[in-house]
Amino acid sequence: MTLPTMPGPSSPGPLDRPRRLRTSSAVRSLVREHSLRPADLVLPMFVREGARENRPIGSMPGVEQHTMDSLVRAATEAVERGVGGVMLFGVPEHKDAAGSGASDPDGILNQALGRLRRELGDATVIMADLCLDEFTDHGHCGVLDAAGRVDNDATLERYREMALAQAEAGAHLLGPSGMMDGQIAAVRGALDSAGHLDTGIFAYTAKYASAFFGPFREAVDSSLQGDRRSYQQDPANGREALRELALDVAEGADLVMVKPGLPYLDVLREVAEASPVPVGAYQVSGEYAMIEAAAQNGWLDRDRTVLESLLAFRRAGAGTVLTYYASEVAGWYRDGL
Ligand code: PBG
Repeated sequence: MTLPTMPGPSSPGPLDRPRRLRTSSAVRSLVREHSLRPADLVLPMFVREGARENRPIGSMPGVEQHTMDSLVRAATEAVERGVGGVMLFGVPEHKDAAGSGASDPDGILNQALGRLRRELGDATVIMADLCLDEFTDHGHCGVLDAAGRVDNDATLERYREMALAQAEAGAHLLGPSGMMDGQIAAVRGALDSAGHLDTGIFAYTAKYASAFFGPFREAVDSSLQGDRRSYQQDPANGREALRELALDVAEGADLVMVKPGLPYLDVLREVAEASPVPVGAYQVSGEYAMIEAAAQNGWLDRDRTVLESLLAFRRAGAGTVLTYYASEVAGWYRDGL
């Protein structure tokens, strides 16, 4: 296609003027391609076992480890503001090699899921991170073999137990995030055989071994030594995200996710184009911390940066965006942006 961008002999300037569609707020609004709604946003939340008061997370200003009561209050407020859902992470008091607290019905995460489901019913979508790393003393996402390596298939057994505990506690969507092979099939099989046919799976499909998870380690008091490169994806790879997508969909994922977000918008775009199921993106702890740190220094306009970063996910193809800003941004919309 050739565009008549050069002036003709009788024309005083460019014939094609894209700026015409930017002249007023009204015309910009008319031609706007993408938008953000509170219902597109999911709020990740941390709940700490035995806590008497909230604990701030130093590297994530404004985010905290909740007590059970403050979790309920903050989740209720987020739901009243219209967020699409909440994603829960538990911070247990005791950790062991098998991550026992993860599948214990009395464990903090399952207790919190039950409490939220009783308080909020089906008014929102209650999601649970399904992974062992918060619960293991070694901090890995699975159980270890005799040589100290993460044992894929033994871990799947633990994920099945965890899935049942979370479904019984009342989670609507389980978010397997450990990047074990076969984890979606294992979780789906466990749910189906126990009759939890309506409990869905929001699969962390393309999850990278990323430095951007840094502040999350503080958020969950992680005890990890070493790294997750033997199970999370190599940041250098794009193609394998599509392989993970094909596997997760074939194994029964109801929604899929790309994570981290902004550094992986290319992956998000490819997954969004190929996926037959809804696609989410997770703006992770390090992305949040970067914006907060720059804003605290006066180097970025915080609120504009937040909105622009969230819109970028929508433009790249995400339907749902998990972000620590979810409740705050939903409040901005309620108050009129
Ligand atoms: C695993 C899990 C992690 C995050 C979400 N689920 C940590 C990891 O894989 O190392 C990171 C979230 C964030 O950084 O905001 N339970």
